[in-house]
Amino acid sequence: MDVGPFCLVPSVLLLVVPFWLILSYIETFRSRSKLIRKHECHPPLAYPQRGPLGLSEIRESTKAFHARTFLEWTCSQYKLHGNTFASSYLRQTIIHTIEPKNIKAVLGTNFHHYGIGWRKKYAFKPLFGNSLFQLDGRAWDRSRAALKAAFNHARVTEFAATEEEVDPFLDKLRTESTTQPLLDLAPEGYQDHDGAEEGFLEAMKRAGAGCEKRWQLGLFSLLVPQESFHSDVARVHRYMEKRVDDVLASASDTNGSKRLDFLACLAQHTTDWNQLRDEACVLFIAAADTLASLLINIIFLVGKYPSVWARLRMEIEPLGGQSPSPKDLKQLKYHGYCVREALRLLPVLPNNSREAS
Ligand code: HEM
Repeated sequence: MDVGPFCLVPSVLLLVVPFWLILSYIETFRSRSKLIRKHECHPPLAYPQRGPLGLSEIRESTKAFHARTFLEWTCSQYKLHGNTFASSYLRQTIIHTIEPKNIKAVLGTNFHHYGIGWRKKYAFKPLFGNSLFQLDGRAWDRSRAALKAAFNHARVTEFAATEEEVDPFLDKLRTESTTQPLLDLAPEGYQDHDGAEEGFLEAMKRAGAGCEKRWQLGLFSLLVPQESFHSDVARVHRYMEKRVDDVLASASDTNGSKRLDFLACLAQHTTDWNQLRDEACVLFIAAADTLASLLINIIFLVGKYPSVWARLRMEIEPLGGQSPSPKDLKQLKYHGYCVREALRLLPVLPNNSREAS
């Protein structure tokens, strides 16, 4: 029977793919052995795995996540297994570390030897596209340079925009003794008051959580229905697209006195509509939740330590109630220490990941 060329393709693939897999395994093994010899590395302690896929660890971490004890659970793992240990997660080997030297190597000295990793890129692609958070290597260098220029332009030292959101919240905290102000923290500017897109904040929260879930499951997420995740992403994109359209429409406005926000500054470096939309999504996630969480953590900690509060107040007394200038801020050393201590005690982003490339 003549089966034609259609049978030939799978046969060739069947021969070539295992051959390619074996070759790349040998190559990885050789280069890893070379590195291990060169740096005299010792194998990390192995997490006591129960079951082949690391399901016990997934179960425990998910339980801790829902019980809001994830940070404590993570710290307890390091107390149990040491500063660096390895585990296997859905067949992928993960090395967990809080060893300062290792972190310095991954995020600093050997930065270009580590990438985002396919699992994270795949998980966040629908929401973040090809924005900065999704890039590594030379593409990251290029994109980072453009963003840095935009940051410099955006006069990030101007606090007016942040104060507009935070001051009413602090006023409420001062005058009301209930927990309601905490519930009102969602910044006014991000609420749906302009009718741009109904339910944007909720959709953003669900879309972010959906990406995390896809990250956890890796390719297994293909087996899980994701219609609602994709419709949340589409809703978020519609909101951001409206902002990009506004920014591009006013790009020709050369009124020098107008304060440019970050997106407007970025639009001076690129007019790629998709890129602007993706970067806007990233910046929303990177800036809004982190800053809000840090502020809440500081308020919580200062409430616990009245002597710290008294010292903070003493330090700003010379300003006589005026907002500090960027130059004043540099002099407010004790304020800076408190921000760092709050980040250390209650880290806003307690973990991060990279894949050896
Ligand atoms: C308490 C506040 C913040 C914390 C703790 C924080 C933390 C972090 C961390 C850990 C990363 C590295 C992520 C990674 O490499 O995987 C990061 C990246 C980033 N953050 Fe923040 N962030 C904060 C506030 C902000 C704000 C206010 C903005 C924007 C106005 C911002 C914009 C960015 C951007 C653009 C990146 C990507 C930078 C890059 O890849 O080089 N962040 N942030």
